[in-house]
Amino acid sequence: MSMTFAMIKPDAVRAGNAGNIIQRINDSGFTIRAMKLIHMTRPIAEGFYAVHKDRPFFGELVEFMTSGPTVVLALEKENAQQAWRDLMGPTDSTKAPKGTIRGDFGTSMGENASHGSDSDENAKIELSYFFNATEFC
Ligand code: CMP
Repeated sequence: MSMTFAMIKPDAVRAGNAGNIIQRINDSGFTIRAMKLIHMTRPIAEGFYAVHKDRPFFGELVEFMTSGPTVVLALEKENAQQAWRDLMGPTDSTKAPKGTIRGDFGTSMGENASHGSDSDENAKIELSYFFNATEFC
């Protein structure tokens, strides 16, 4: 078993899709080990996405991620990192197949409904960015 970090982004929360996405997480065999609703401040969003700070979309990304509440989660499953990325579909929602979270709930490259860590190493870093040890069940 392994754990990955997941987010249900402000577009999906705003549209009332957080419940549907959590249902898909359950139906796909993940165990939720931690979960909370947060409204990111600018420094929190900038810190989380610091790896993208020199990319042209960074300002837009921070603006979007601070635009409303986000659900942050720790998901456990066999090969959780890849399994969650498979369930989300590709980053660009316009290219994500129907049946994937981004294909069904995202609308663009930026407003793509969800996030998942891109490696087990980054999953550990991202989980500890949002959760402390006492918050895991
Ligand atoms: P995420 O998986 O959270 O990782 C980085 C995010 O940056 C990505 O999802 C998108 O929301 C966003 N992103 C990546 N590329 C672009 C782009 N070209 N334009 C706007 N946003 C982008």
